[in-house]
Amino acid sequence: MPQFFPKSANMLALLTLAIVALGAGGGLSALLITSRSPYNTQQGMPIGQPVPFSHKHHTTGLGIDCRHCHYSVEVSGFAAIPPTKTCMTCHSQIWNEAPMLEPVRESFRTDESIDWVRVHDLPDYVYFNHSIHVNKGVGCATCHGQVNEMPLMWKANTLQMQWCMDCHWNPEVNLRPRDQITNMDWQPPADAEARQALATQLAEEYDVQSKVSCSVCHR
Ligand code: HEC
Ligand code: HEC
Ligand code: HEC
Ligand code: HEC
Ligand code: HEC
Repeated sequence: MPQFFPKSANMLALLTLAIVALGAGGGLSALLITSRSPYNTQQGMPIGQPVPFSHKHHTTGLGIDCRHCHYSVEVSGFAAIPPTKTCMTCHSQIWNEAPMLEPVRESFRTDESIDWVRVHDLPDYVYFNHSIHVNKGVGCATCHGQVNEMPLMWKANTLQMQWCMDCHWNPEVNLRPRDQITNMDWQPPADAEARQALATQLAEEYDVQSKVSCSVCHR
């Protein structure tokens, strides 16, 4: 066999390969780590809005149920952002001069909806549906956190695939009775045995399956 390269060159090539591989590997894991960091997913970061609408004031403070505004959440894939006229049922009388609410009044006058900044936004290649989750007994707080304590909205969870999967593998333990879906204070029984019994009972009653095949979310 003719030898095109001296032995040392071979070694050098191998080393170079190893370094490139390691470098790329390092680069890749750095990418993966940053893409999963709170900064990148915006988890826990309050998002500024054209009107500083406070969920804390309107839910905990005034006791308005989530479904009053997000009216389609039980019947459609989309939870719906309320139209301006929902705000005006109160704000044509309450705080009707407040400068802070001028964008709301302007939207009402011009019939152009307020440009709310989306807080949760899955990529287009992912299919999600609210009504399925809500009707199977998954509460708003399980996915969105303590919305009733948020002055401005933020993402309580990453919404990454791993997060969806963690629940889809074993959804039972994340279920609650359907009539508690919007209750921000609902807690499962403290006793481990009672908690498991409720989980098993609800999974059976609502016919909840573990759904992990790719086509469930990527259709
Ligand atoms: C008075 C009406 C009102 C009520 C009641 C209300 N919301 Fe909202 N919600 C809004 C408006 C307006 C927005 C858009 C502005 C924002 O993101 O804060 C919104 C946004 C959201 C978003 C983020 C949407 C996005 O862009 O991803 C979530 C999640 C949400 N609400 C959950 C809830 C839950 C859970 C409750 C009940 C505890 C609730 N809301 C009660 C009006 C309301
Ligand atoms: C059921 C009546 C009601 C509805 C519906 C309602 N609000 Fe309010 N809103 C109030 C009251 C009452 C206050 C004063 C709250 C306080 O100071 O405790 C308020 C306060 C506010 C404030 C001042 C900051 C804050 O949150 O305290 C903003 C901004 C606001 N509302 C925006 C909106 C928007 C936008 C909508 C529609 C998505 C809306 N409201 C729907 C009753 C309502
Ligand atoms: C299983 C987790 C889960 C549950 C339970 C859940 N949500 Fe969501 N929510 C999401 C995800 C994921 C998105 C982003 C959807 C997208 O980008 O297509 C979202 C988006 C929203 C939005 C923005 C509008 C939209 O539909 O995209 C609102 C408002 C909202 N959720 C309110 C609620 C309310 C109110 C409840 C309880 C009645 C609730 N959600 C229950 C995961 C959940
Ligand atoms: C806390 C638990 C939980 C989380 C988090 C969750 N899911 Fe689900 N999901 C469920 C349950 C329970 C069902 C109902 C399963 C059944 O049909 O019995 C379901 C069903 C679905 C379905 C309908 C399946 C079908 O074919 O009927 C889709 C699509 C879906 N989830 C997508 C998602 C996506 C995308 C995410 C993440 C962004 C997510 N889910 C996060 C619990 C969860
Ligand atoms: C329960 C819902 C769900 C299931 C089941 C699921 N995915 Fe995903 N997948 C997601 C979500 C949500 C994202 C978006 C993640 C993000 O935005 O960071 C995603 C993103 C992806 C991406 C883009 C790269 C990435 O990691 O962000 C690929 C590739 C992918 N999924 C492949 C798959 C394959 C292959 C399967 C089956 C083994 C699968 N998914 C099953 C929810 C799901």
